[in-house]
Amino acid sequence: MKKILCLYAHPNPQRSRANRKIVESLTPLANLSFRPLYELYPEFYIDVKREQQLLQEHDLIFFQHPFYWYSMPPLLKLWMDSVLEFDFAYGPKGRALVGKDFLLSITTGGPLDSYAPSGYNRFPLSAFFPPYEQTARLCGMQWHEPLVLHHSTRVSEDTLLQHAESVRQRLVQLSTGAQ
Ligand SMILES: Cc1cc2nc3c(=O)[nH]c(=O)nc-3n(C[C@H](O)[C@H](O)[C@H](O)COP(=O)(O)O)c2cc1C
Repeated sequence: MKKILCLYAHPNPQRSRANRKIVESLTPLANLSFRPLYELYPEFYIDVKREQQLLQEHDLIFFQHPFYWYSMPPLLKLWMDSVLEFDFAYGPKGRALVGKDFLLSITTGGPLDSYAPSGYNRFPLSAFFPPYEQTARLCGMQWHEPLVLHHSTRVSEDTLLQHAESVRQRLVQLSTGAQ
């Protein structure tokens, strides 16, 4: 079974509703290492060597975060800038991530129909994914279709729990080798 590394980036985990439920649903997964970045690095001093070691020890790299300004919260971006170094993650000697899987899971405030030419977000949500996808691909990882919970501040508790369960199931599926 593949080992999953969950990089969880919520700047305010105490006030989270959606992401909290999603990460709670992952607790039973024995093959998942949970890394709540904002709790581990409140001062934003990332232990790069430790993070690189963890990346090497896992097979499926999983990002879970609320969508902030069409992108990721800043500590996760700092994690990427610091940890995905030249000759580690990319470059002539940068083979550490080759062959691993990458899965993104986000929650949005905007409803599905806001992510359309006629909606206030103007673009489909997928228009914001290329920086994630190309990072994964440049590092030699296999990209998988992201998981999204739209309108996450408004959805019912049932919808939220169902979504959390579907995230857990997708991770189980990928970690047992299914695509
Ligand atoms: C600083 C900030 C930026 C945000 N930017 C976006 C955005 O670009 N698109 C969007 O759909 N929602 C945006 N939201 C809404 C969050 O994605 C939403 O509150 C979050 O997914 C809810 O998850 P939680 O209950 O775990 O906090 C933003 C919220 C904050 C606080």
